[in-house]
Amino acid sequence: MYTSKIVGLGSYVPENVVTNDDLSKVMDTNDAWIQERTGIKERRHIKKGDGNTTAVMGVKASEIALERAGLKPEDIDLIVFATLSPDMYFPGCGVQVQEMMNMRTIPALDVRNQCSGFVYGLSVADQFIKTGMYKNVLVIGSENHSGGLDMTTRGRSVSVIFGDGAGAAVLSRSDKEGHGVLSTHLHSEGAHAKELALMGPSTEHWVPALIEENPQEDIPYYPYMNGQFVFKNAVVRFSEVINEGLQSNGLNTTDIDMLIPHQANLRISQFVQKKFQLSDDKVYNNIQKYGNTTAASIPIALTEAWEEGKIKEGDTVVLAAFGSGFTWGSAIIKW
Ligand SMILES: CC(C)(COP(=O)(O)OP(=O)(O)OC[C@H]1O[C@@H](n2cnc3c(N)ncnc32)[C@H](O)[C@@H]1OP(=O)(O)O)[C@@H](O)C(=O)NCCC(=O)NCCS
Repeated sequence: MYTSKIVGLGSYVPENVVTNDDLSKVMDTNDAWIQERTGIKERRHIKKGDGNTTAVMGVKASEIALERAGLKPEDIDLIVFATLSPDMYFPGCGVQVQEMMNMRTIPALDVRNQCSGFVYGLSVADQFIKTGMYKNVLVIGSENHSGGLDMTTRGRSVSVIFGDGAGAAVLSRSDKEGHGVLSTHLHSEGAHAKELALMGPSTEHWVPALIEENPQEDIPYYPYMNGQFVFKNAVVRFSEVINEGLQSNGLNTTDIDMLIPHQANLRISQFVQKKFQLSDDKVYNNIQKYGNTTAASIPIALTEAWEEGKIKEGDTVVLAAFGSGFTWGSAIIKW
């Protein structure tokens, strides 16, 4: 029986820093409101002409991850790309990475599970490695949110939260038992699909129909979020899925060395931290710098925590995510 182990991590964010004060120049918001409700101080936005796209940022993060893994693009057997903001409606970003990184004609799989996308992708990679089918899998989470947000006062409750960036992990086959990805746990509840959604353009809602069907004040080609409903569900599901992961491995909350929660909102992370009675050094947050980068948030946070020496060999690392769908999931990793 094989296990899969993360052997390389990388992240990339665009250089362009957008502070809360910058946002207050284009919409009716302010630094105090944003920090108090979300913890966010600034985020990165792609700047026109800087060459970044969702796929390009994914490649930049992947190059770092591959170098750290000591692998070459030709060593990768499968690409799993998680995003809600692909460069094209179709095809997905995975094939763009295959081309840009000059990889063999390996499979490229696109995952559409929003904030849970990286955990879903990691689970897919883990299964392919555990069955013995593939040896090295590249999992990417990348988002270009800034290209599709309503940057006026109308969109402020959503637009101040999200940022651009990418993270990547290389998973490799290992035959050492009891380490690497111990288990992953995935869930969904489509009844709440419309509580956090971008309705169109889509096959049900092409642009002319969207304009005709909707009054100006309710524009469905910008993301919609029922913030308080999302918040309430997030804190419950985060807790459930972390417990599920711990229990299935016979672990307790005291066994957690590092929790990397999806960076949705600092208050959600703090709620979870308190519930599991974890000290500050056992929960990693960087939403203050990047906002919510959806599928990229966990791999960026994981990369930074590792770079800062906060994850060591033998540590029990827990990843947990919740987001649009609703979807949620966790991964328990023995580093
Ligand atoms: C979005 C969120 C920060 C809003 O915080 P909240 O405390 O629920 O605030 P509300 O939506 O009730 O809005 C409170 C007031 O602030 C206003 N407001 C909304 N966005 C604002 C902004 N950016 N700046 C200033 N005021 C704002 C609202 O219009 C409202 O004004 P009113 O009382 O005059 O009607 C919060 O609900 C949240 O974080 N939800 C979870 C979101 C999330 O995690 N999403 C990603 C999931 S993966």
